[in-house]
Amino acid sequence: MTITLKHKNLVLGVCGGIAAYKSVELLRLLVKAGASVQVLMTENAGHFVGPLTFEALSGKKVCKSLFDPHESAPIQHIQWAEDADAVIVAPATANLLGKLANGIADDPLSTFMLAVTSPVMLCPSMNTNMYASEPVQSNLDRLKGYGFSILLPEAGELACGTTGPGRLPEPEYIFDRILNLMTPKDLKQKRVLVTAGPTREAIDPVRFISNPSSGKMGYALARAAEMRGARVTLISGPTTLSPPNNVEFVSITTADQMCGAVLKYAEHSDIIIKSAAVADYKPAQVAAHKIKKSKGQETLVLDRTRDILKSIPRSSNHQVLVGFAAETQNLDEFARMKLESKQLDLIVGNLIGSEGTGFEVDTNQASLYFKGGSKTSLDVMPKADLAHVILDHIVKLVSS
Ligand code: CTP
Repeated sequence: MTITLKHKNLVLGVCGGIAAYKSVELLRLLVKAGASVQVLMTENAGHFVGPLTFEALSGKKVCKSLFDPHESAPIQHIQWAEDADAVIVAPATANLLGKLANGIADDPLSTFMLAVTSPVMLCPSMNTNMYASEPVQSNLDRLKGYGFSILLPEAGELACGTTGPGRLPEPEYIFDRILNLMTPKDLKQKRVLVTAGPTREAIDPVRFISNPSSGKMGYALARAAEMRGARVTLISGPTTLSPPNNVEFVSITTADQMCGAVLKYAEHSDIIIKSAAVADYKPAQVAAHKIKKSKGQETLVLDRTRDILKSIPRSSNHQVLVGFAAETQNLDEFARMKLESKQLDLIVGNLIGSEGTGFEVDTNQASLYFKGGSKTSLDVMPKADLAHVILDHIVKLVSS
């Protein structure tokens, strides 16, 4: 499965609210991702942001009136409704929500909305008391019942001076949720546990043993699984990445902590993906204070850490266990050995050191080794795409 907005037809509805300025940035993100976006504005929206801004960014004339003499086809908005792959209304005012919940069509946006058959995401944004009011809440309940997806507003200080829920989320977040809306949910109800990043094993309070894992592959897997409807727990060592949206995030530092967290969540997971680069050794003693240098050589005594994958009790139900093998040589041999010794269903192997693959970079070139002996070699691709390819194979394993 590839999740992309490239060549997708989207319609962005903009209502009259102070947050309309954020829909300009949202439009920019959608267009940058390759989507073709038609903007429909209410008359009030024009008081906050001029149509020219949206026209410049979308490259399309904005629709503001049902009876625009310059429009080539007077019922063009019905055609857009038929062609749309998804529709976003941001900000959605109390007025628009009220009209939509009651089937009122008295301007281009509300008329268009009744004709839409594609997935719709409504992003309510208004004064806190308006948002909390019974009429608005009951309209939102009705709209949810009709199958509209509602992106809840954030709480915070609002332009009107009140503090509470009502603020339109940031454009990047709305963008992420649009991708989610458009992703088929083939992992719905599945619990997915992902580990990512490096672990750190302390030598003293200021030094540790670790590795250059950036966590990018694991975070991409967690994000992709969430998009596909899974309930995801991400257990991560220290990275500079932000956790994906709507994912339970467990932050750990050492291999022992990762082991404890994995064993806690493993039992209730349908799929376990261990992409973390776990330290195999930890210092036998952790010095309480910074170790001072001395003349000559120093020896560091190391203990083995537990193999986390091997420690996971194998449950009788169809739990799918996936490991990673990052090697510098003999990939086939080492990956297959780990597949066998760790009793995995699938191991994702990659060679460190080749161009576009391995630690820290945004792309990877992997081979998939399956229990039973088969192997699939994949091209170099972005880690975000590889995550979906790996999940495509996992979905097949889950349903086999
Ligand atoms: N792994 C683990 N616990 C460890 C070490 C590794 O669960 N203590 C997991 C990794 O998350 C990965 C797989 O085992 O999914 C392979 O990790 P890797 O470091 O490549 O293999 P090792 O078994 O540690 O073997 P070696 O370091 O000797 O190559």
